[in-house]
Parts: sequence; C-alpha cells; structure tokens
Amino acid sequence: MISDEFAPEIVGTPGGFPAVDIPLSPPAPRGTSPGGRPGGIFNTTNLLRPSIQDSIQMFSRSAAPGRSAALLTVASQNPLPAAPPLRGSSGGYPPPPPGSYPRNREKNRLNTLLRLSLLLAGLLASVIAIATASAQTGATGAQRFFPKSDLMKIGVYYYPEQWPASQWERDLGKIAELGFEFTHFGEFAWGFLEPSDGKFDFAWLDRAVDLAAKNGLKVILCTPTPCPPAWMGEKYPEVYLVGGDGRRREHGTRANGSLANDAFVKYTKRIVAELGRRYGRDPRVWGWQLDNEPSAPADYSPSARRKFQSWLERKYGTVEKMNAAWGGNFWSTKYDSFAQVLIPNDALTGEDTLSPHALLDFRRFTADTQADYLHLQRDILREHIRSEQWVTTNYINVTDTADPRRTDRLDFISFTMYPMRGEKNLGELGFRLGSPYRLAFAVDYYRSFKGITGVMELQPGQVNWARINPQPQPGAIRMWLWHAFGGGLSFACTYRFRQPLYGSELYHAGIVGPDGVTPSRGGLEFARVIAEMKELRKIYDPAAKMPERVAARRTAFLWSHDVMWDLEIHKQTALWDTWDHRFKMMAAVKAAGAPLDYIGEDDDFSAYPFLVAPAYQLVDEALVSKWTRYVEGGGHLVLTCRTGQKTKSGQLPEAPWAGPVAPLIGAEVELFDNLLDDGRGLVRMKGKGYAWNRWADVLKALPGTETLAVYADQFYAGKPAVVAGKMGRGTVTYIGVDTIEGGLERDVLREVYARAGVGAENYPPGVYVEWRDGFFVGVNYSSRPFAVPVKPGSKIILGSNPLRPAAVLIWRE
Ligand code: GAL
Repeated sequence: MISDEFAPEIVGTPGGFPAVDIPLSPPAPRGTSPGGRPGGIFNTTNLLRPSIQDSIQMFSRSAAPGRSAALLTVASQNPLPAAPPLRGSSGGYPPPPPGSYPRNREKNRLNTLLRLSLLLAGLLASVIAIATASAQTGATGAQRFFPKSDLMKIGVYYYPEQWPASQWERDLGKIAELGFEFTHFGEFAWGFLEPSDGKFDFAWLDRAVDLAAKNGLKVILCTPTPCPPAWMGEKYPEVYLVGGDGRRREHGTRANGSLANDAFVKYTKRIVAELGRRYGRDPRVWGWQLDNEPSAPADYSPSARRKFQSWLERKYGTVEKMNAAWGGNFWSTKYDSFAQVLIPNDALTGEDTLSPHALLDFRRFTADTQADYLHLQRDILREHIRSEQWVTTNYINVTDTADPRRTDRLDFISFTMYPMRGEKNLGELGFRLGSPYRLAFAVDYYRSFKGITGVMELQPGQVNWARINPQPQPGAIRMWLWHAFGGGLSFACTYRFRQPLYGSELYHAGIVGPDGVTPSRGGLEFARVIAEMKELRKIYDPAAKMPERVAARRTAFLWSHDVMWDLEIHKQTALWDTWDHRFKMMAAVKAAGAPLDYIGEDDDFSAYPFLVAPAYQLVDEALVSKWTRYVEGGGHLVLTCRTGQKTKSGQLPEAPWAGPVAPLIGAEVELFDNLLDDGRGLVRMKGKGYAWNRWADVLKALPGTETLAVYADQFYAGKPAVVAGKMGRGTVTYIGVDTIEGGLERDVLREVYARAGVGAENYPPGVYVEWRDGFFVGVNYSSRPFAVPVKPGSKIILGSNPLRPAAVLIWRE
C-alpha cells in the first residue's frame, strides 16, 4: 500500500456526511456561470484574457445546429479509419481548394495531382500501418496510439524559445529526472518558426526535439497559429479579427487572428504544411496539437461578414427562407438579399435585442468556421505525417463557443483544465480544492467522442488569471491527476515546466520555480503521481472487466451546443444558468456511481439503459420519436425543465406550451415560473423540501402518470413538479424544476435507478468514484472525510479510508 502523506488534516467529524440535502454549490450570483473563467463564461469581465473576453463579449446572449456537405466530402478522403457519422448542423464553408495558394494555374494543377497521389499513397500506407498496429496490439480507433498498459502518461510543456539555449539541456534533463514521459513544444512560436514572410527556421526546434529525445521524452508538437507574427499584421492588417466593439485586434497578444480571413488562412496553411513536412516522419514526434484552446471567437470583420453571408445562402438557398427562420416580419428586420445581411452584433444594439434566431445562426456559423479551420490544419498535416502520429486539439474544459462535436475528423479531442479559479466551491476548503464539477464533467465529455482523451494542460499550482489566486490545498494537484486517471484519460500534461520570468503570466506556477531548478509544490505532487503510476502499471490487469453492478447503471447524457446556445440567447430569467443546470444533473448521475457518456442526437441511445437529457429545449419530430422508441424498447429517460419547448430553429411551435413532448412525459406544462434573486419556492418529495428560484414548469399529470414531487407553495401549491410514467418496456421521468442545490435532482435520479432494479450508490457532493481498467478510484473535493463503501475483500492499493479532502483512494475488488 502506498501512503497518503499529502492528505490534509481531517476537517469535521469522521464517518461521512449527514443525511441532509447538502448544497452542491452556493446559488451562483447573477450573470455568473460555472462554465467559464472567473465570473462565468457568459459574464463579461476585463479580468479575462483577450481571446476569452472576445468570445464572451460576442456571445453574451446567443444560440444553435449545423454541419457541411464540404466536411462530408473531405471526410471520405480521410486516410484514417472512417470517422463516426457527422452530427449536427448544416452550413460551414468548404476549405479553399487545394492549390489555391500558389499563383499560377499550371502549378495548381500539378499541385493537385501531386496532392492526390500523396493522399492515395498516404491512405495506403495508413491502412497498412493501422492494420499492422491493430494486429499487434488488438487496439482499434484512437486507442492504437496509447497502449492500455501505459495507463496514463504524464508530461509537461516547455517553451525553448523563452529560455537561453544554454539552459535547454539542463531543463529537459530535469524534466526527465522528475519522471515526466513527454514534453510539448511550439504552440506560440510562429514568430520563431517563420521569422519573416516565407523564411523558416527550424534549427532551434530540431535541437529541442533532439534534446528531448536524448532524455527519453516523447514530443508533442503544436501548430503555432494562435500567435501570428508582427510582420504578418504589418503586411495584412486584415488578418486580425474584429471585436463586438467594431475594433480590429492588434499584434501584442494571442488568439487574435480572423479565421475567416483568406490571408490568415493562407499563412496558416503554409506554416502547417512546413511543420508537417519537417516533423511528420520524425519518430520522436508523438503527436500534434492544433492551435491552442480554440474558442471560436466571434468575429465582426468584413471577411467574416462575407463568409457569413455565403454560409447563410448555402443553408437557406433563398433570402425568404432565411427571413422566415429569423422572424424577419418582426420589426421589419427582413432582408432583401444575402448581401445586405449584417452580422448580428449585440454590442452595438440598444435596449431592444436582436433576433435570437439570427444570433443562433451566427453562433452556428462561428463554430463551423472554427471547426473548418481546425479540420483544414488536420488535413494538411495528414498529407505529410506518419499514421502513427496523432492529431488533436485542446479545447477549454467547458467550451461555450467552439463545439468539439464539430471537429470529428481529429483522432481524438483533448482539453485543458484549471480546477481552481478563485471560487468558493464546496465547504471551507473548497477554494483550495477546485471546482467539484469541471474535471468530473470534462473526463467523460471529451472521452465520449472517440473513446480516448487526455488533459493537455492540468493546473500545476497557482495561476495568474483568476480574480484571486489562492494556493491549492496540499494534495489537491495529486487528486486532480488521479481523478483524470479514474476518468479514463490516456495522458495528462501540465502547463508549464518553468515559472515564467517575464510576460503576463509571471505569477503562474510551474513545475519548477523562478530559479529554473527547484521543484514547486505542484512539481513534487506531479513527480509523486508519476512514481505511483509506474507502480500501478506493474499490477495492471488487461483482462479486468467493469463489475456488472456498475455497468448496469451506464447512463448517457444528451448534450448539444445548439440547445445550450438557444438557452443562453433567450434565458427568460437572468438567473438561468445552463452550465449549472447541466452540472447538477451530471453530479446527480455521478452521485449514483453510474458510468457516464456524453452523446449526440445521432448516436445510438439504446446502448445505454439510462438517458438523461436536461433542459433539451430544441426538438423536432425525429428526436421525440427517437426518445419514444428508446423508452418503448426498455430505456429509462429523464428529461428536465424547458425540454421540448421550441423547434430546432428556436421558434415556438403552434401548439400548447411544450406540446411536442406532452404525450412522452405524460403531462402538460400548464405554465412556467421564475422567482426573483432572493425568492425561494418550495418543492416537496417524500416529506423532504427543496428550494428553487430559477425555473419551474408547473405540470398537469395525464391519466396513468405518477406525481413524484409537488410544489409546496406559490399560487400553484399542490401541482406536480416531477412526474414519472411507464411506456412500453421503459420509463420517462420529467423533473420540471431546477433546484438551487440540486438535491431533488439527485434524489429523483436515485429513485429512477432503484425503480429500474439497479442499485445506486449515494456519494455525497464532491466525492467521485470511477472505475477504470480494474481500478476503483475515489477522490474527494468536499471539505469533509467520507467513508467510501468498499466491497469487503477488496485490496486497497493507494490511500486510506475514510477518504479525506484532497485525498485519493484506489482499490481493486
Ligand atoms: C491556458 C492556456 C495556456 C496558459 C494557461 C495559463 O488556458 O491554454 O496557454 O495561458 O491557460 O493558466
């Protein structure tokens, strides 16, 4: 057994939690969301970095679906195993034709031929390589890049260009000495890779890759596209995006390029191709990260406007159809031609707001533009790189503006994770333990896309960018790492090795401190987990199977960015918080100890005995029939308030409120209600009370539908708040209210599992238990110890029970 010396003093009484309804989080203050950087991603704050600020400003209220035929065409040329069917939207602009970059046509044709032959050769080589790799390891899909017996590899970012070349050898040596297995170069180094237009310098990167390899470190290389060099803006000022304030961004920061601008795209293509050519065959390079934290920033530039107009024309065909979808008869907002269309700019409107349908389309367009930009980079790399190298990108853990589901041609999708951001979280230690939701959400969400994911940046200690930046609790970083492991991650990387001595992030912790050699507290916790991971690998059992009682609770979570956008564009109450609502439902599922996958509407619902679709506002007949068939076939469906209230274009159907789902939920939504900031409504279930103030659907149960909870006050006291019913071989439960603490949601979920004959756990808020490759992993983000129910006869491998805050418990049954 490995000891657990980082665990803090026990706070409170041992023996677990009181049986009362414990708040999951304090009610979020107005306009904040647990989804974003400090203050919430929908809350504009000048404390955020420019790129993030931009997306917030642009999208402070917005929404919707879409994907393009162009994407489908390119997907079919994909030399990798076929991507899952495209889901989502229509629209998106096709990448510029191959060969459009050089000037003369003859050259273009030759280039096209050459590209085609390369593509075919690449395809053949890939098929052979994949077949060989799969035959050797039995692994398919993205798993082939990550032998399971490695469990989770751990690495760290290093920026050679930020340090004297004379120190690289020492630094990379130290990285290896601390046990790291890979490093990560280049994401912001465009100005060093292409110091002047068309002149490339790879000598420094060659040397860094060489030194990494000499120290046994694999290398992740990045495309440097977040940081266009100064010379580019000097030549083509239009390469920068334009913000909601109508002002063009400038040189001097990052993530400031306009993805809709042809010159920017042209330069992107060239640097990506050069990198691919140089390092694509290099066995020391493990894989590629595209860009950094792609966030689909809203862009009001003339380039974006033109692209938006073409996108709309492709989507609607005629301006009349667009006017109908946008509600153009309202306030005479209709257009006579696509050429007249302006980008709906919230920042420039007055008291009256813009068409929510136009905003929804702008969000779809922007997310498509981001996805197309990443796919463009991916396709160029794939022309040059070995099939053994993978291509991913690192989305922010809760991404509101970019939609990861749209980038389905990447090998897998990774994410960045900073659990602490100056928020209180759970209990008195919560501000040092980090959000109890973010990592729990991200591991499942990002793993669900391809079955594989990794965390590209995991907070190493204090950051510089939150409103207030406390020290993490001793042990918290280790806990996050083991939580990432429990969530099934194939790698965890941290930003960054050295604390910077200059620049906007000089207060940001590194694995070593400002002297460049002394490990920080976070550095020591990383080193400790690396050593522990090596021990765990020795006892990895490839034949381990998820225990049946756990597998029986497998739950899917239906998640759509379109639905999220629409909810956020048209909140109806400023208190509504989509992320908070979804996190509460996620926490309810995880509290039951259920394995959770996030799926889209095109996925197979029947693969899961339970399906949760919270506040799923936008529906069409196809979705309602799919839900109905799922339930009739034996599935257990849980829907929550606001579901089924609008069509896919965000309009109300000409029907009773929520009419499309009434037969499915066995109830009518008589009315909905919102309370004021300090208002508290009461719901009762089995004698227990739960407070709400954001949203309440007041229901009328139809014959045969059971009422599980009722409103206990307001003028509708006694009317149902939660109903359940049987349909075919399955059940439908509708939770019509969003409670402040999420306790009702947890209790209802437990009831759903119990009624389905599947035992559920009852983990308190902040405690997560995951099963992965034969290991149970328990982590505790609460401020109290919890006695984890461990099956008698199990072997504790790491840590001790009761599980203390910031501690880890790993065991095998
Ligand atoms: C991330 C970003 C990194 C670095 C880090 C600091 O969001 O991707 O480049 O800025 O934050 O915490």
